[in-house]
Amino acid sequence: MNIILLGPPGAGKGTQARRLVDERNMIQLSTGDMLREAHTSGTEMGKVVAEIMGAGKLVTDEIVIGLIDEKLRGENGGGFIFDGFPRTLAQADSLAELLEKHGQTLDAVVEMRVDDEALVARITGRFTCGNCGEVYHKVTKPSKVEGTCDVCGQQQMKFRTDDNEESLRTRLMEYYKKTSPLIGYYYAKALLKPVNGLGEIEEVAAEISTVLG
Ligand code: AP5
Repeated sequence: MNIILLGPPGAGKGTQARRLVDERNMIQLSTGDMLREAHTSGTEMGKVVAEIMGAGKLVTDEIVIGLIDEKLRGENGGGFIFDGFPRTLAQADSLAELLEKHGQTLDAVVEMRVDDEALVARITGRFTCGNCGEVYHKVTKPSKVEGTCDVCGQQQMKFRTDDNEESLRTRLMEYYKKTSPLIGYYYAKALLKPVNGLGEIEEVAAEISTVLG
């Protein structure tokens, strides 16, 4: 089963994707993570995109489509989870072409609905493990021992440079202008599965499980 997790910044896409990886052996394809990796590994492309990401703007369609094309050539386990991709109508059209090219189909688009006030609270409280990528929140999901990752035991917690109010405002605007039209696009393709993303992490996970079957 191949699915998209669609929602604004901070909706909980990464958090729920990691659960689906554990529970269903799916493979998470997060374009945000791929772009951050490109930046830390010091590639030319990484340098180009770092500034755009820091400001909260979208990087070009060509770059992210290339990244996804590369990943679709690999193992797909229990299916792919597209996390943060597609983000524009052009990316959505390209994804359809790429899936066809790789002999795959898209089975569901889970739309995670969260209001803007909650998004700000989530983003400004987020931190992640720099070693294994586990996502935490200072109020809703703190680590059991402060500064130490529950999953891998490392002490490498970090904050994202784009998790500040100014960048978040731009990210939200980019979402509403360029990404939210995908809701209608996938509704018309009868793939859209809306879930209430405002509940507790476990409740959202249960709702996603129900809509995916
Ligand atoms: P990306 O990394 O994809 O960021 P995003 O879409 O802004 O999403 P986030 O990672 O911020 O949020 P999330 O929904 O994953 O929430 P999370 O689970 O972490 O993209 C970053 C940048 O890269 C973009 O701005 C752009 O520049 C570029 N980019 C990426 N893809 C691109 C593309 N396709 N095209 C062009 N540019 C692209 O949760 C957030 C917090 O809330 C955490 O602290 C978590 O613990 C907490 N939380 C989660 N769920 C709950 C819950 N149910 N209740 C309470 N707290 C919760």
